[in-house]
Amino acid sequence: MKDRVPFGIAELDNLIQGGLPKGGLIVIAGSPGAGKTILSAQFVYNGAMLYKEKGVYVCLSESKEHFKSNMLGLGWDFNKLEERGMVRIVELPTVAKIRVEDMTDLIVEEAKKFKAQRLVVDSLSALNLALGSRAEVRAVINLIARMLKHVECTTLMITESPWGTTGIGMGIEEFIADGIILMESVVVGNRLERRLMILKMRATSHDTRYYRLNITKDSGIILSTYPEM
Ligand SMILES: Nc1ncnc2c1ncn2[C@@H]1O[C@H](COP(=O)(O)OP(=O)(O)O)[C@@H](O)[C@H]1O
Ligand SMILES: [Mg+2]
Repeated sequence: MKDRVPFGIAELDNLIQGGLPKGGLIVIAGSPGAGKTILSAQFVYNGAMLYKEKGVYVCLSESKEHFKSNMLGLGWDFNKLEERGMVRIVELPTVAKIRVEDMTDLIVEEAKKFKAQRLVVDSLSALNLALGSRAEVRAVINLIARMLKHVECTTLMITESPWGTTGIGMGIEEFIADGIILMESVVVGNRLERRLMILKMRATSHDTRYYRLNITKDSGIILSTYPEM
């Protein structure tokens, strides 16, 4: 069996034979507020705290300081992990001036230089704003995904789907990915509910149900089953 890279969230790891396939490129797709950033931050945080694995978190859609202070609200002190040399948080601007190839080179270089075992790119959709046509976005994402596949670390690539759509990302990254985790925030009755499903996970006999997802101040992401229908 393939080596596994656990999230450190038991209910989630159990759905994928103990963790993500080592070295894989996994797309985390979903609507705004679904918990994509929090799940990915927990992946890096637990990686360092529980498994002594180094991680690089690349912020493309918010500032590094903003990210760190949000995560501190959940009890995760990324400053401390940076001081200990376990985590590096990289903020890259997504302005049109930067060539995307150069930006991807930078990400790959950071991960290699730091000897990261875990890498997060949050999010690819931020590029959307900096790029022009849809065709251009696709070509670029395809390129990024191919380049990221050559880094020897397990990579989470976040893509945002507009609220209310059922499509995943921009229609290309999901074909290249080794895995896809779908995260949704949906209105049920008169309240917002978050849910998660494993859509694809190479080399893994994975669960195929929806799970209710809660974000808690004490333990971060918590999954629970829906009653059988
Ligand atoms: N400290 C917290 N405790 C509980 N829920 C939180 C906390 N911080 C953020 N949230 C919830 O998480 C949501 C944001 O999650 P996030 O991972 O940033 O979403 P995404 O990246 O998918 O857009 C917020 O809308 C809020 O509902
Ligand atoms: Mg986010």
